[in-house]
Amino acid sequence: MTSLEEFRNQMSITKSHIYFNHAGIGPISDSTLQLLENLSKSQRLGNQGIDWEPFMTWHGSVRKEISHLINCSSEEVALTNSTATGISHILSSMNWIDSKERGLILNDLEFSSNSFAYQQISKKFKIPLHIIQSIKEDGIEKLSLDDFRSKMETVPISLIGISHVQFQNGFRIDLEKLTKIAHEYDVKVLVDAMQSIGALNVDVKKLGVDFLATGGFKWCLGPLSTGFIYIKEKLLDSLEPVFVGPLSDKNPTEFLHRPFNSHDSALKFQYTFNFQASGLGEAIRLLNSVSIAKIETKIISLIEYAIEQFKNQISGIMIISPTGKEGSGILTIKFPEKVNLEETEKKLSKKHKIAISVRAGGLRFSPHAYNTEDEIDKVVSVIKNII
Ligand SMILES: Cc1ncc(COP(=O)(O)O)c(C=O)c1O
Repeated sequence: MTSLEEFRNQMSITKSHIYFNHAGIGPISDSTLQLLENLSKSQRLGNQGIDWEPFMTWHGSVRKEISHLINCSSEEVALTNSTATGISHILSSMNWIDSKERGLILNDLEFSSNSFAYQQISKKFKIPLHIIQSIKEDGIEKLSLDDFRSKMETVPISLIGISHVQFQNGFRIDLEKLTKIAHEYDVKVLVDAMQSIGALNVDVKKLGVDFLATGGFKWCLGPLSTGFIYIKEKLLDSLEPVFVGPLSDKNPTEFLHRPFNSHDSALKFQYTFNFQASGLGEAIRLLNSVSIAKIETKIISLIEYAIEQFKNQISGIMIISPTGKEGSGILTIKFPEKVNLEETEKKLSKKHKIAISVRAGGLRFSPHAYNTEDEIDKVVSVIKNII
């Protein structure tokens, strides 16, 4: 077990910055950096430097760490390079020709990575794409489960694409309820988990998720160009991936042209070697050693503390992030109109070494479990002084 203090000690960023931008890009830990450095150095000597045996084992151990994090079997996990590649990979492996009549559901809050591939499938195979409109409750944007049900009630649907946590205000959909409703209509759910994996306890079995895709470089604290997908075991046979490579085959080191003999597991989706992924494995090993339940509890308590401090100390602000079950690691706050958000963000970054971002007409704060209440006090006080 790694304590939160030991976790913090692994994050060198804490020595120079207050880092509240995990919804943007996650910093990497010292141990992840070390591993990546060693790996990069090894290729200076070409195949004389790279030891393939441990590398192949690594691949397996990365998938094992991921399966531990999201409570599935490592046979249900494949490594990718980003959320968008994962989503495109899964969508392009589905049989759209025989399910032409059945549409897709997205919503108007989604990040582009979770929208463009659906649009392409819709265009290419002439599949109707339905966009659920978000609603506003007390100025906070949300999605209503009733709207998803009504859509499935009225038109034939095969798949819902949705983010577990929305990137602008951090709205967390009740995935357990959504997948239950979807399954009543024989509809599958593909989750973009980029803003929840590594911050919240994402238990794919409990949540009933069919497919999941994420990048590894935000809350997971993994290197850029990493990611993974999860595919529920009983759905593996129904998918025929187009993006395949030697690792997707049952005999990955048999290089001659021959009939492709696909893995039965999610390894059939393993289209490439991904060196960076070993860094993701190390990053997730660190999260697992702290425990994701503990990480979620700490992040949520930091968000609650931040809300209280901002409300008490700065007047005229409006919290546009949901809280409670609909909340997450993202806190977005609107400030009085006179506040120039871009300038504030720049000043915080350059002068005060505080990292946040501008989203949805407000400032977005996204602390991780290694951050502290003291850091929140400092950020609130600096913002109070500069706006
Ligand atoms: C919900 C969501 N999905 C995906 C991404 C990133 O996508 P990719 O991994 O394709 O760069 C982001 C980044 O901001 C995001 O917020």
